[in-house]
Amino acid sequence: MNAGDVIPEKWRNDISEILIGSTQLSKRVSHLAQLISTDYESQNPILLVVLKGSFHFASDLSRAITVPHELEFIRAKSYQGVTTSGNVHIQHIDETKFFGRHVIVIEDIVETGLTLTQIYRSLKDAHAASIKCCSLLEKVTSNRIEGSPTVDYIAFHIPDKFVVGYGLDYDQAFRHFPFIAVYKSS
Ligand code: XMP
Ligand code: MG
Repeated sequence: MNAGDVIPEKWRNDISEILIGSTQLSKRVSHLAQLISTDYESQNPILLVVLKGSFHFASDLSRAITVPHELEFIRAKSYQGVTTSGNVHIQHIDETKFFGRHVIVIEDIVETGLTLTQIYRSLKDAHAASIKCCSLLEKVTSNRIEGSPTVDYIAFHIPDKFVVGYGLDYDQAFRHFPFIAVYKSS
């Protein structure tokens, strides 16, 4: 664990433990970047970054990918506090940008798979040439929707707990932590 991976005093009541330290994060991100660089050589893929949660991950991943690629962004929102609302609000996808393109959806965390299902539907409607997903985290849960897309590149599987940090939030807080931590009341 990195020396910076310490829960600051003022948040010790909110955060119970550090689950994934910053060194582990950067090692896995580099590894996924290598896999993507090999798989997408000469394909100039679009990394479709799902905001806000995946912004740190996408930034580190993109800078470690060694082949040409482009970046696009959309917003998706489903959680209120520590519970999923069951409704996903996804910003409209500009279909013209994805026609005939290889797309890699960059997610922070896949839980039920609902967000991913909706994004894939829009990208299929847009006639993307191929669609894959790279997610920082996948939650091991019984809530997964049957038939939801499989995640092609995963940095870490985590237990069914609410996590924050490295982009993930609890009501917009804690996104700035350089590590992934478990939120206490989850
Ligand atoms: P679904 O269920 O659509 O969920 O696969 C994906 C979205 O839900 C949010 N999510 C979390 N956000 N800590 C968070 O900060 C969590 O533990 C968590 N679990 C799910 C997240 O926005 C993700 O994109
Ligand atoms: Mg969130």
